[in-house]
Amino acid sequence: MKIELIISNDGSHTLYLPEMDETYHSRHGAVQEALHVFIKNGLIHKSRDRKNINILEIGWGTGLNSLLTYKSAKQLGLNVKYTGIEKYPVPLEVLEQLNYKDWNEDDYLEKVYRSEWEKFVPIFEGFDLRKIANDVRSLEFDQEFDLVYFDAFGPRAQCEMWEKDVFDIIFSSMRSGGVFVTYCAKGQVRRDLQESGLIIERLPGPPGKREMLRGIKP
Ligand SMILES: C[S@@+](CC[C@H](N)C(=O)[O-])C[C@H]1O[C@@H](n2cnc3c(N)ncnc32)[C@H](O)[C@@H]1O
Repeated sequence: MKIELIISNDGSHTLYLPEMDETYHSRHGAVQEALHVFIKNGLIHKSRDRKNINILEIGWGTGLNSLLTYKSAKQLGLNVKYTGIEKYPVPLEVLEQLNYKDWNEDDYLEKVYRSEWEKFVPIFEGFDLRKIANDVRSLEFDQEFDLVYFDAFGPRAQCEMWEKDVFDIIFSSMRSGGVFVTYCAKGQVRRDLQESGLIIERLPGPPGKREMLRGIKP
């Protein structure tokens, strides 16, 4: 599939898939969106009651969310085990063109872009990463997650990622008290997440988006 690099409004790159007419991040700001949705309303929120955090990301993509998680976890003194699921890994030569080096720390990107897939790799002390190249639907999880970043392509581009059977798989992989965050706030998505068992709240979205969703597993 053809893949193009574009600059979002905060100066950070995102990837664009012309065939799907879809970007990997918000055009209003890739880093800005990730910091708001996943770091502020996910990681920082969860860190108030837990210092050892097991994270699941659906749609690891460029690894941007994992980089920003590493930086915040270091600042907050958290221990993180991070599992990123990615059905279509982005080729290394594309990853290396992204300007995320401007946000890089401790050579994080250099380490993770070349790290082995399918197993936990200790990237730094207190930060283990496991990249899994698979379809979220085929996974049987061997961990209980405290925090889920649901970062699939939007429902218009890939509606099958937003179906209730996917949410049921994710719900069953979460620990009680676990937190789920996504940038999407569509009514049907919210109702399906609630049907799966999550208690959902609507939060202000990042610039360019009115709302986002956060759920908790009772
Ligand atoms: C919105 S992008 C993710 C952006 C990513 N979090 C980042 O920071 O770059 C959605 C990702 O979901 C992946 N994806 C698509 N279908 C999938 C599936 N069935 N299972 C797992 N990942 C999938 C895509 O390849 C893409 O990388």
